Amino acid sequence: MRKNSKRQKLQGKFLNQINIKYKKPLKGEITPPPDKSISHRAVIISSLAEGKSIIRNFLYAEDPLRTVNAFREMGIKIEEKTQSTENKSPLKGGEGGLTQNAELIIHGKGLNELKEPKDTIDCGNSGTTMRLLCGVLAGQLFSSTLKGDASLSRRPMQRVITPLTEMGAVIKSEKGGFPPLDITGGKLKPIQFQSPVASAQVKSAVLFAGLYCDGIISISEPEKSRDHTERMLKAAGVNIEIKDLKVSVTGKSKLKPLETTIPGDFSSAAFFIVAGAMVPKSEILIKNAGINPTRTGLLEILEMMGADIALENKRDASGEPVCDVYVKHSSLTAINISGKMLTRAIDEFPILCVAASVAKGTTKITGAKELRVKESDRIASMSKELRKMGVEIEELEDGVIIKGRERLKAATVQSYGDHRVAMALTVAGLLADGETIVQDTECVNTSFPGFVEMLDKLMG
Ligand code: S3P
Repeated sequence: MRKNSKRQKLQGKFLNQINIKYKKPLKGEITPPPDKSISHRAVIISSLAEGKSIIRNFLYAEDPLRTVNAFREMGIKIEEKTQSTENKSPLKGGEGGLTQNAELIIHGKGLNELKEPKDTIDCGNSGTTMRLLCGVLAGQLFSSTLKGDASLSRRPMQRVITPLTEMGAVIKSEKGGFPPLDITGGKLKPIQFQSPVASAQVKSAVLFAGLYCDGIISISEPEKSRDHTERMLKAAGVNIEIKDLKVSVTGKSKLKPLETTIPGDFSSAAFFIVAGAMVPKSEILIKNAGINPTRTGLLEILEMMGADIALENKRDASGEPVCDVYVKHSSLTAINISGKMLTRAIDEFPILCVAASVAKGTTKITGAKELRVKESDRIASMSKELRKMGVEIEELEDGVIIKGRERLKAATVQSYGDHRVAMALTVAGLLADGETIVQDTECVNTSFPGFVEMLDKLMG
């Protein structure tokens, strides 16, 4: 595998293209980077807690560092210790290529001590930063503005604006529900919100705003989305109640500082789980992967497709289940996937499309409308690019129908600036009959610095 960049030394930052071709089976042991969702929440909850929190194994990548910067701009002192002293933050011109984790020490000041940021807060590519911050900012007695990059500026924010406005915040978006957003917080009133989408970002925004209410607020969702916020708020001593699909939180409680170790990101491990299952004779051990049941739909889907996966050494890491995932190649068979299962595999859609492309038979994925409003329109991105690799795909309004084939055709494909599309297409390149070029791959640094190096290691 080659990474094409004009400045080889800065390959992380200037990694624009990945050239990939099959060499030999994938063998060995890897540890995926820390969980992105949990990293964001650790920064937010520690900043709102009273006292010093210690966050170990924090994901040192662009997206969660946007959340770190936002709280620094609101006066929170956050110290960072990275393993490599040479590698500065990818947001400050560092390589961002190899350092994946850091220890953060966050000096929280309590719910009401954030200060008004001097400038607009730049959330970059991070939807989680923007939507979760909306919840926190809704409870502040100051005004603030949030902006994002071109991709984030196309992502819908009405889903958080609606409940937060009902609670009493004033959120203006010039472009009818899209960033940038001007937020004027204030005294919030408790609500009972029924979310039309199963979204952990919406749920978390409402729960964070709920911390500022007098009384109990609740949110119900159509399917259970990831529950990292609930788990971490509970660890911080907040009174939170979960009943089926409804979560309630009591406002105005004092948050205790955290001492936590973040597990490996299942959604990053997913690329290697599928690669190990697909590439003949492969055998991979993925250590310390988070297996929160709200995230692991892919495991059940792959098992139904006939994959050979074993979960070993199951344990608890700071309130989140983790294990080592052992995966071996086996031939995959097509299945139908929809609804609940997909909510628990929402970020795995791109790599699932790749698995379906080499499965025997025709896979139908439906109920995936949310995928149209991710970092790119993932239904369109994956359909268009896998077609270039010879796959027969029918694009549906809310999903895809994919006819599997034995080998893929090597091609030059695009990521649309979407990290998960870039990595999924790189894995697809392992099963192509020549060299595949994945273009526009700098975005991989938003969630997985070191992805290329890790795949390289397994390719021997
Ligand atoms: C996330 C929730 C999901 C997921 C995203 C991260 C989170 O989005 O797709 O990558 O950290 O809360 P939605 O809340 O829009 O479903």
